[in-house]
Amino acid sequence: MSVLSLKGGVGKTSVVLGLAGAAVSRGLASLVVDLDPQGNATSILRTHTTRKTVADVLAHPTQATIEEALTPCDWEIGPGEVDVLAGHPSVIRYDSWTGQTFRPKLAKALAHLDGYDLVLIDCPPSLGALTREALAASDLALIVTTPSYFGSQGVERAVQEINEIKRTVNPNLSLAGIVVNRVRSVAEEHQYRTGELVNIYGKSALMKPFVPERIAITQAEGFGQPVGMVKTPGGREVSDIFDGYLTAILRK
Ligand SMILES: Nc1ncnc2c1ncn2[C@@H]1O[C@H](COP(=O)(O)OP(=O)(O)OP(=O)(O)O)[C@@H](O)[C@H]1O
Ligand SMILES: [Mg+2]
Repeated sequence: MSVLSLKGGVGKTSVVLGLAGAAVSRGLASLVVDLDPQGNATSILRTHTTRKTVADVLAHPTQATIEEALTPCDWEIGPGEVDVLAGHPSVIRYDSWTGQTFRPKLAKALAHLDGYDLVLIDCPPSLGALTREALAASDLALIVTTPSYFGSQGVERAVQEINEIKRTVNPNLSLAGIVVNRVRSVAEEHQYRTGELVNIYGKSALMKPFVPERIAITQAEGFGQPVGMVKTPGGREVSDIFDGYLTAILRK
C-alpha cells in the first residue's frame, strides 16, 4: 500500500510508522519501503546500514539487489516483525520525468519478495515519478492530509494521480482511504475542512476517527519507537486509532 500526499509534512511517515507499529503488535510481518529521499522512515526505524538501498533497487530491480537492500528494524516490541527497504538521498534522481515511457521498477523488484502480510510504501511529498513507482507497485493507496485549504487541494490532485495510474499502469490499484491528520476538534477551520472532504469524497472514503494533534507522535519519532510505546493517554489514543485503521485496511 502506498501512503502519499502532494503536500509535505502532513504525516505520511507518521501514518506508515503507526500502521507498522499496529502490525507488529498483532504478530504480522511488514515491510516498510522508504521511497522518500529524506529517508525519515529509515532513520526512525533504526535500521542497520545495508549494502544496497532503494536507489540501487530502482536501478536494478532484481531479487539479489532487493534482498541486499532489506534490513530488519530494531523495534523489539514483537511479536511481529518489520523489515525496511532502506532509503537513500540519491533516490531523488528517479523523481524526475525522463520523457520515456514509464516502466515500473519497484513493482518488478517487490514481485521477487513474498512472506510479508503488509507492505507500506512511504512516498516523498510530491506526485512525481517516485510516487508513481509506489502506486504502480500497490493494490491500495492511502492519502494523508491535514484539515487545511491546501490540504484539500492536495487530496484532489492525489485522487487524480491514483485514477491515472489505475487507468494506465496498474488496474489493481484502489483508494484505501483518506487520513485526516493533526485535527484539532475545537478549531472551526478544521471542522469546516473535514466537512468539506466528507462532502466531496463521501463519508466512507475518510478514515475514522480522524488523527488528532498529539505530541506523542513527535515523541515516538524522537525515541525511534512506535507510538504505542509512549505510555501517555495521547500515545494510547493514537495507537488505538492506527490499530483501527489497520483492521479497516486489511479488510480491503
Ligand atoms: N497527529 C500529529 N500530532 C502531532 N504531531 C504530528 C502529527 N502527525 C505528524 N506530526 C509531526 O509532524 C511532523 C511531520 O510529520 P511526518 O514526518 O509524518 O510528515 P510527512 O508527510 O511524512 O513529511 P514529509 O512530506 O516531509 O515526508 C513530524 O515531526 C511529526 O512528528
Ligand atoms: Mg515523510
